[in-house]
Amino acid sequence: MRRVVCPGSFDPVTNGHLDIISRAAQLYDEVVVAVFRNPNKTAFFGTEERLELLREATKGLENVRVERFEGLIVDFCKANDISAVVKGLRAVSDFDYEMQMAQMNYSQAGVETLFMTTNPLYAFLSSSLVKDFAKFGGDVSGLVPPIVLERLKNRLPEE
Ligand code: PNS
Repeated sequence: MRRVVCPGSFDPVTNGHLDIISRAAQLYDEVVVAVFRNPNKTAFFGTEERLELLREATKGLENVRVERFEGLIVDFCKANDISAVVKGLRAVSDFDYEMQMAQMNYSQAGVETLFMTTNPLYAFLSSSLVKDFAKFGGDVSGLVPPIVLERLKNRLPEE
C-alpha cells in the first residue's frame, strides 16, 4: 500500500489544506492527515477539536484518515509504515524552511518529502490569516470548510 502523510498544525484546517489533501488522495492509496500537538505552543483550537474539524471536512474522502501526533514526524512515519510526507508549497517564502525540514527528515530517517504546488486560488491562505481576519469581523467563507466557519463564529467574542 502506498501511504503518505500530510502533517500540520491545522489550527484550523483551511480550504488550502483540503485542496492538497484531496489531490494527494487521488495519487496514493491512503493519506494520513497528522495533526501535530505542539507542547510549546498554545493552539486556538485544541487538539481534539482540530481532529474533529478535519474528520468532518474530509469525511467524503474514503482513503483519508486523521490522526494526532506528538514528537517527530519521522517517528510517526515509521510507526505507521509511511514512506513520504506530502507538503503544499504556496510561495517561495515557504521554500527555505520546508526544504530544510525535508532534508533533515531524509538525512536522519530516510523519509522522503513530496512538494505539491498550491492551487493559486489558495496561494495567500494560511490558518493564521484566517483567524486574524475572522477575529476582526472579516468574512472567511469560501476559505474554510463550513464546520470551521461555524466554529469560528461561535468562538469569537460578540460586539
Ligand atoms: O502547519 P504547520 O505548523 O506549518 O506544520 C508544521 C509541522 C507540524 C508539519 C512540522 O513542524 C513538523 O513536522 N513538526 C513535528 C516535529 C518534527 O518532526 N520536527 C523536525 C522537523 S525537521
